[in-house]
Amino acid sequence: MKQGPWLFYLILVAGIQMVGLERPANAQTPGFVSSLLGKPVDWNGSPSDLFSANLNFPTRYPDLSNEPWMRLDPSDPSQRNAYFQAVLAYGLSSFVSDISGACPRTSPEWFHVPWLTFSVGNTSADLAAGKIGSGREPICGLTQERPAPIGFLHAKQTRRVQSWAVGSMNQVGGYLLGRVWRDRSATDISETTFPRGTFVVKFLFTEATTVEVPYLVGAPEWDANVYRVVDGSTRETKRMRLVQIDFSIRDPRFDAQTGWVFGTFMFFNDSGSPPRDWTTKLVPVGLMWGNDPGQTSRPHFREQVLEPSVMALRDQGQVFDLSKRTTFGWLDRVNGPLDNPVSSCLSCHATAQVHKLRIIKHFLTPTLQPGQNTDPNRMLWFRNIPPGTPFTFSATELALIDQGRPSLVREDWTSALMADFVSTDYSLQLRMAIENARFHALQGAPNVLDSLIPPTKERLPTGGARERLFEDFRREAERIERSGELE
Ligand code: HEC
Repeated sequence: MKQGPWLFYLILVAGIQMVGLERPANAQTPGFVSSLLGKPVDWNGSPSDLFSANLNFPTRYPDLSNEPWMRLDPSDPSQRNAYFQAVLAYGLSSFVSDISGACPRTSPEWFHVPWLTFSVGNTSADLAAGKIGSGREPICGLTQERPAPIGFLHAKQTRRVQSWAVGSMNQVGGYLLGRVWRDRSATDISETTFPRGTFVVKFLFTEATTVEVPYLVGAPEWDANVYRVVDGSTRETKRMRLVQIDFSIRDPRFDAQTGWVFGTFMFFNDSGSPPRDWTTKLVPVGLMWGNDPGQTSRPHFREQVLEPSVMALRDQGQVFDLSKRTTFGWLDRVNGPLDNPVSSCLSCHATAQVHKLRIIKHFLTPTLQPGQNTDPNRMLWFRNIPPGTPFTFSATELALIDQGRPSLVREDWTSALMADFVSTDYSLQLRMAIENARFHALQGAPNVLDSLIPPTKERLPTGGARERLFEDFRREAERIERSGELE
């Protein structure tokens, strides 16, 4: 089936109207809507309670250097608890009211990353048909995350369960979004570093029940229009439970390491009954400002801390099934219960970058050649990359990397290719958003197939070619975004 770009455009516009969305001023972009899905038929809330994305980015921002989370020192043990409390209070202020029971509106001073409304590989025709991959659901604006493998949350969790999350940025981060999308119909990557004081907060939810994960009794619960089953394609509105709250802060006091502080809280209630105030059961898990490069055991870590009380619960088998997983991050670097234990917050986020022009998927987590999968080699992913600096490998390092099954859409990493990457400064949402915007824009371009295939790859045979290409995009997106499930 051969279709011109105009037909795609028409399908898209028709699709947006079909799902009943308002068409804002610059409406040809599906990146700047709250969700590409309308009110779910199995949800009986009011349409005015659907998620509304804050996409009117500020053109200036306040000086936040006097905020307690910019003054208290998270690397000083005597100040750490106060730091966690200050971070939590500020993070929760991203919503206009308490988050237990249902998702409240986002505060007008917090902003959402646009373009997370679908996944790379979803064509305009897919969007018109409501196929949006991991894209934002309409009730609370959640996007799909890596599912939790069996036992990753608790020993009683005996099935794989979906994870969904929503994040927002304060005015400082929102300002950068406004620079990248000064013009909503174009993406400008000439400025992609976040100013000091950027604060991002992300709320992560699981579909697991309190039978499967008993410590979630009394956790905030939201309705969200997720998938009926893990890896499914039919949506269903389900009750989701808060497991984890992540934060990232651009803090120049740590420029000698990564320039960012990343950390997380988890909901942990082992009392068996709901607490009066759910926030009393939110416990800090840990935080980090560096990757502790080259260090392969916890006693040598100097740039991160896992809270001893949480480690004790973990060691008693109260957090996850110790036969499935024994650490939070790799070698017990900082990570949350929902995160991939082959990695850690800053290691995964250090890979946040885009190619100058192309959509190139690359590896968030260590992927080494057979026989090279040693801890010292894995440490290539645990370097301290300065803020705003691309994540690259030398030619010798590249020889250690396993680039996996060839794909039509992925260029093989070479030193020359990597010289053309632009950092998105530890933000993987910004990276995904730029890639989604590009993928969408390319579909409207003449010779769309040619422009999606890297110059180093053979041209596609005609007939079914478009579908094969898009299938490869979907496969790559899945492989990368969900990469490194512990084998
Ligand atoms: C294995 C990779 C991986 C690990 C480990 C990881 N993240 Fe992320 N994180 C992602 C991806 C991919 C996104 C973008 C998609 C999304 O938000 O769902 C993201 C998004 C975020 C965001 C939203 C802003 C942004 O950066 O774009 C925050 C905040 C965040 N993560 C914090 C953390 C913290 C804190 C930890 C550790 C406790 C952590 N992450 C561990 C992959 C990871």
